[in-house]
Order: sequence, then structure tokens, then C-alpha cells
Amino acid sequence: EKGGFDSFMAKEIHDQPQAVADTLLGRVDSNGRLALDELRIDADELKAIDKIVVLACGTSAYAAHVAKYAIEHWCRVPVEVELSHEFRYRDPIVSPSTLVVTISQSGETMDTLMALRYAKEQGARTLAICNTNGSSIPRESDAVLYTHAGPEIAVASTKAFLAQITATYLLGLYLAQLRGNLFRGEIADTLADMAAIPAKIQSILDREDEVKELARAMQDTTSVLFLGRHVGYPVAMEGALKLKELAYIHAEGFAAGELKHGPIALIDEGKSVFVVVPSPRGRYSMHSKVVSNIQEVRARGAKTLVIAEEGDEAVQDFAEWVFRVPETKTLLMPLLTVVPLQIFACELAGAKGLNVDQPRNLAKSVTVE
Ligand code: F6R
Repeated sequence: EKGGFDSFMAKEIHDQPQAVADTLLGRVDSNGRLALDELRIDADELKAIDKIVVLACGTSAYAAHVAKYAIEHWCRVPVEVELSHEFRYRDPIVSPSTLVVTISQSGETMDTLMALRYAKEQGARTLAICNTNGSSIPRESDAVLYTHAGPEIAVASTKAFLAQITATYLLGLYLAQLRGNLFRGEIADTLADMAAIPAKIQSILDREDEVKELARAMQDTTSVLFLGRHVGYPVAMEGALKLKELAYIHAEGFAAGELKHGPIALIDEGKSVFVVVPSPRGRYSMHSKVVSNIQEVRARGAKTLVIAEEGDEAVQDFAEWVFRVPETKTLLMPLLTVVPLQIFACELAGAKGLNVDQPRNLAKSVTVE
């Protein structure tokens, strides 16, 4: 069942090229236009949406964070991301022109289900992004966009996360297409880059030993920090969550720009810091700021573990260890940069002799509030 891997999690990490490919399958026509007829919300209604609220918990909430960057950029609609359990109890503002998107692998997360019911009571239109056919959250939503990651057995979410990002991007591009926010060519170009992602993930998996070696060497580490900026920020938080839940190590993800506002005080000799570096081909100032952050923590004795694009020469001199990911559009980078962080957590937990698939105190679906 584990397909020759040591754990379901390792298998599911390796399923990711397929999970992304399957989530794209059948949703793009031969003209490079999105065909999301499966959404049961009327196109005119979708055009009239003036706010999107994305609700989720845990890893699914990090997919929501990533989605915000893409959807706002492409559709020019405000996107709010909120943890389901926080949304439900704070008197949030939703109206019939609000699209409430829930993201859930299991479709049974009680916090998200209750938030969905609340949003419906307030008159919002609701759309579920879900990996489990016929589960409660999609059943109770106006529309569903299924992620086709296949069953996820390991408690820690991996392939569902990539499929969720893929699905939210399809939704974002679809809304941009409906609303005329993007030129046809831009949509087709982005979809073509998304179609190239599975092979790029595979090329990362083919080099997983580089990450595994680092993980095994770090099995006695007690604290690891993760920094990222823009879409790399939720990736940093996801990398930290994977390490906490699997290896029981203190881990924290930060927005790299926050460093100087406090977290830099945590840096001392030998502290391990992962840095997710944006592409130097994107906004140059963003890239150079993150490179400065690497220098800043390095100057204070940190062990800098860098995830950077192939050909990014600027990081080399300040990195203790570098893992290269293939080039892609900035917005698509999370689909690549999170993979080494998943492998790292999985391998480190395994090296500590822990049960990777069933970490202590956790359940695969959290059906209590
Ligand atoms: C982390 C993890 C959890 C889930 C969260 C939401 O690895 O698995 O944080 O992401 O409990 O679950 P779903 O997506 O089923 O609503």
C-alpha cells in the first residue's frame, strides 16, 4: 500500500506530481480557456462578487494564504483569509455579494463546517475546495471544486496542500476570465506554466537525498525558524507546521520582513534558519531584501538553510546549505518550494524514530470544534 516507501507520508510526497496533474485535468480546454462548468454558481453571480473570504484550518489555511496573493493579483477582488474558528465568533461582515470559499482536505473539519453554516446564514454564496467526494462541507456548499489528490492517509497533509493551491489558482484564473481582468494570453500562459509544474516537482523529488542528508544531520536540533516573503511566507509557516507536528521540534514561520521587528532577537550562534527565497526574475527588490535577511541572520551566527531558484547566484555566499528549485512564475513557486520542507520534516521525524504517519495527539480529521 505504501508503494515501497517507509511511510504513507513519504508516498504521498511522491504522489504530488500526479496530484497537481490530476487537479488540472479536464479543466482547461484546447484553447487554453478554463472550463469549470462543474461550479454550480451562475456566471453572472460570480461576476458580481465584490469580496472573497477564504476559510480553513491548519495546512489548508496556508493554501488559503497563498491563494490570496494570486486571486487579488489576477482578479482585483479583495480576498480575506481567516481561520474558520476565528471567523465564526467575531461578527464578520459577509453579504450576498461575498463569495465564501472553504478549503478542506477531509470535508469534515467541524470548525470549517460551522463557519460555512454561519456564512450561509448571513446570505453569502459558498464554494468548497475539497478532496473528499460527498463529504459534509461540499454537500452543504453552493458549489464545489474538488482537488483530485487521491486519498490522503498520513495525518500530516502534503499532496492535498499542493492540490488545494492548484484548485484555488484555477478558481482565480476562472474568475479573471469571467470578469475580463486578464488577457486571454495571460491566462493561457499561466495555465501552461501550471501544466509544467508536475515535472518540476518530480525533478525536486529526484534530488530528495540532498534534503534527507541535511535532515538526518539535524535530528538533535531543538528549534528551527523559517522565513519567507510574499507567497514564500505561507510556505515558511507550512514548513514550520510540518516540523512541529511530525518531529515535535519547536518551529516557527515568519514573514521575512518581520525579522527586524522582533524575531531577529531569537537568532544566536548555531540557530537553524530556513529561508525561502523569491525568484530574482520576479520583483528584484523583493529578492534582494530576502537576500539581505539571509546576510543579517548569518552575521549573527545562524546556520542558513536556503531554498532558492536555479541560477540564483546571490544566495550562494551566505548559505550554509542551498536547495535549488526549477524556475517558474513567482506565484507558482509555493508548489515547488514547499516540497523540500515536507521531505525535511518527514525524514527528520523518521530519523528520530517517530511515527511519521500518526504523530502524537493528532487525528486526520478534526470533527470537534
Ligand atoms: C497539517 C494538517 C492539519 C489540517 C487541518 C485541516 O498537516 O493536516 O493542519 O490541514 O486540520 O484539515 P482539513 O483540510 O481536512 O479541513
